[in-house]
Amino acid sequence: MSDTIDEFLVTYLTDVHALEQQSIELLEKAIDIAGDPSAQQLYHGHLLETHEQKRYIRERLEAHGAGPSTTKDVASRAGAKGIGLTVQAAPDTPGKLAAFAFAFEHLEIASYELLRRLAARAGDGDTVEIADRILGEERSAADKIAATFDLVVERALQQRGLAG
Ligand SMILES: [Fe+2]
Repeated sequence: MSDTIDEFLVTYLTDVHALEQQSIELLEKAIDIAGDPSAQQLYHGHLLETHEQKRYIRERLEAHGAGPSTTKDVASRAGAKGIGLTVQAAPDTPGKLAAFAFAFEHLEIASYELLRRLAARAGDGDTVEIADRILGEERSAADKIAATFDLVVERALQQRGLAG
């Protein structure tokens, strides 16, 4: 309990960095599973955005003196630390994918809300700014995923010959 607020902030940054890495793995799989060009495009667009988000967070870690050795293996340790969701158990159908990806975006949203508040308490305005920006992108991604729900069900019904 003797961590400084700065060191504590680094643990939050490390965790969101691991989340972004998991998100990249999920979105790469999502492009294969989505099964519809518009959904594929959505996941691809957010994948590009996610690479950028991860870079922003890495820069904030570096600004706090946390070098590559701190950030390098966080993704592999993420599961063991209970961060994120098990991407290995990622869904194999467009419907389960949409639900899983929607949940993942909300996990990110909650994590950035917490990071933002801690950064504000630590007086780190740059991290607050980055968190706000990423929050906007994650919310927009979640909305776009939700907008696919109708299409996902419709296509699943069509594939089963159940579309009326
Ligand atoms: Fe995201």
